[in-house]
Amino acid sequence: MALPFLKSGTKKRELIVAIDLGSRTTKAVYLQRKGETLNLLRYAILDAPIYDKSLSPDLLSEHLKSVMQALDAKTKHITLAVGVADSLLRTTELPPMPIPEMRLMLKYNSKNYLQQDLPDHVFDAYMVPPKQINPDPKAQPKYKVWVGGAKNRVINDILTATRAATVIPDEVTLSIVGPVNAFEFAEPETFRTGVAALVDVGFKNSTINIISEGELMLSRVVGIGGDKLTTGLAEAMSVTYAEAEGIKIGMPTEVESALLPLISPLGRELRASIDFFEHQQDKQVGQVYLSGGAANSQFMTQALQSELMVNCKSWNPTSFLRSTLPPQQASELDQIAPQLAVCIGTAAISF
Ligand SMILES: Nc1ncnc2c1ncn2[C@@H]1O[C@H](COP(=O)(O)OP(=O)(O)OP(=O)(O)O)[C@@H](O)[C@H]1O
Ligand SMILES: [Mg+2]
Repeated sequence: MALPFLKSGTKKRELIVAIDLGSRTTKAVYLQRKGETLNLLRYAILDAPIYDKSLSPDLLSEHLKSVMQALDAKTKHITLAVGVADSLLRTTELPPMPIPEMRLMLKYNSKNYLQQDLPDHVFDAYMVPPKQINPDPKAQPKYKVWVGGAKNRVINDILTATRAATVIPDEVTLSIVGPVNAFEFAEPETFRTGVAALVDVGFKNSTINIISEGELMLSRVVGIGGDKLTTGLAEAMSVTYAEAEGIKIGMPTEVESALLPLISPLGRELRASIDFFEHQQDKQVGQVYLSGGAANSQFMTQALQSELMVNCKSWNPTSFLRSTLPPQQASELDQIAPQLAVCIGTAAISF
């Protein structure tokens, strides 16, 4: 499902650059379309310039230049995902109408449709294709619609930054649906027929998307990510943040007793979302697919599995791409692939 706030044209390009502006690390991929095949030419994982607040247009522009350089990209066209701190995703019900009209209706009646006044926002809408024909042909049909929103200021800052970096934002979308869009390509069978939770554990936040038979059913943000784990570990062990980060990544099993109580609250929040879905839909989530930085770690996957009491595994969002990566990147891909889920999903909206 594509939810671009901004879209310039519908041309399918040969070269695709997608950038996920995470709060701690920026992830980017560079792809090439060759007939039916998509080649993964290069990826980049860079530290975000600052972690604690939104990027200024100046910093973002410098950062985008570094990303394009790291990718050695031979295109100026990019697709960008803005993070959960700068965007929102909601469901509502609307009568059928063209998407541009929906966008305007949402803009002027956000309180009505989204239960919240959201002035100075830009919206996009995705109408969920109905599974059944309306049984009462006289009744005005209403469809479930996923609505993405972002502040005008955020989009304007991106436009200023991209102009300064001499890149062209073909599409600007929201990161939270990234794992869903990547999953559709990487695990098509499960996407179409299964019930699964896609959990992306990031730095400041984690997201959970529950999909059932090809449809996004629930999407939530939980304000716990790798940052809280490292901060908590640093406090528990009286070491610096940097030391705690090294321990968390390098030898988590040795500090298990300090780490597990920090992972529990995240597990409980995710469990609550799964319970909510299962009760409402009377369906069971059979598998949790983990992505984000923490999914690089087997320790984290196992700890979350014990907390959630559902099978958890990390997944490879690049599995459907043909790797033509430089040797060094190719050898590291399996290890870091889960961290690219949002980025691949962002690229997927222009496939
Ligand atoms: N092997 C590992 N084990 C545990 N945690 C890890 C590992 N590798 C990376 N991380 C953690 O992943 C986090 C960064 O993940 P990620 O890149 O998904 O975040 P982000 O996208 O920048 O954040 P957000 O999605 O919240 O904006 C850091 O907190 C880092 O400590
Ligand atoms: Mg992220």
